[in-house]
Amino acid sequence: MHTSAPGKLILCGEHAVVYGHPAIAMPIHALQATITSTASAPNTGLVVEAPDLGRVWHLHATAPLSDLARRTLDFLGTPEPDLALTIRSTIPIASGMGSGAAVGAALVRALAAAVGRTLDPATVSALVYESERTFHGTPSGIDNTVVAYEQPIWFQRRPQQAPLIEPLHVEQSLTFVVADTGVASSTKAVVGDLRQRWEEYAAPYEAHFTAIGSIVTTIRRLLSEPNDNLLGSLLTMNHKRLQMLGVSSPELDRLVDAAIANGALGAKMSGAGWGGVMLAFVESERAKQVATALGAAGAVQTWITRLERL
Ligand code: MEV
Repeated sequence: MHTSAPGKLILCGEHAVVYGHPAIAMPIHALQATITSTASAPNTGLVVEAPDLGRVWHLHATAPLSDLARRTLDFLGTPEPDLALTIRSTIPIASGMGSGAAVGAALVRALAAAVGRTLDPATVSALVYESERTFHGTPSGIDNTVVAYEQPIWFQRRPQQAPLIEPLHVEQSLTFVVADTGVASSTKAVVGDLRQRWEEYAAPYEAHFTAIGSIVTTIRRLLSEPNDNLLGSLLTMNHKRLQMLGVSSPELDRLVDAAIANGALGAKMSGAGWGGVMLAFVESERAKQVATALGAAGAVQTWITRLERL
């Protein structure tokens, strides 16, 4: 049996989303984390294996995946199964494309499927979030939400309430070129560093977060009332705010500049930053040209992806 979850891309609003502002994220269905489940011999317990990484986890280890497996089995009210789970993923690790959240969502689904259950996206998302919170500091919850819902979403944390999660209306299909800097980046480290600076002197950071929130709100409107040039410039403006927040990197900036110099309508880093991926918004006929330029500017891998009309 197979279960899976897609990679994700944050279109706009990363980091500010941790502080209560809205953000927009979309799944990338072309990249998937997949788990294959096989019943194993009695009393062998749960063994989770990632052959591509040469790693194996058991249920009682102190590791994020073991913690998530324990939480899921508790939620399902089921004892440890005798089950071998094999993880394969085409989502690059530590790249801002949601690899950890997707593996987590696929794991929750695999354990549920083993007892004949299918969990709804909200439950999958909540289990992955609780586990991420234990190991990754102060995540907003957007990553687990978009990979569990598998559709473009508007996401905003709210005090004392569950986050606001709304599927997005998209009036026209939009084309993006995504490029990986090849620099691995830890979301926990970047989010933690920004939080430390925010704790020391909040006001200038709050100003950037508020500005990003208004950019995101305008971008949402442009998804249903298309204006490609404005959308492009707002994405680039979002990138500049992220630069000022200290979460971009020379490699990301170089790729953003190269995309714009080669005809992209706008470009920005995507995800936590300091490495990982950036996205360029392009007219579809220019996608290949921009992807080639990004390769020449140092990207180790590029993808062309679309936010489909919904
Ligand atoms: C990471 O994909 C997005 C961040 O905003 C962190 C988070 O929301 O948890 C940087």
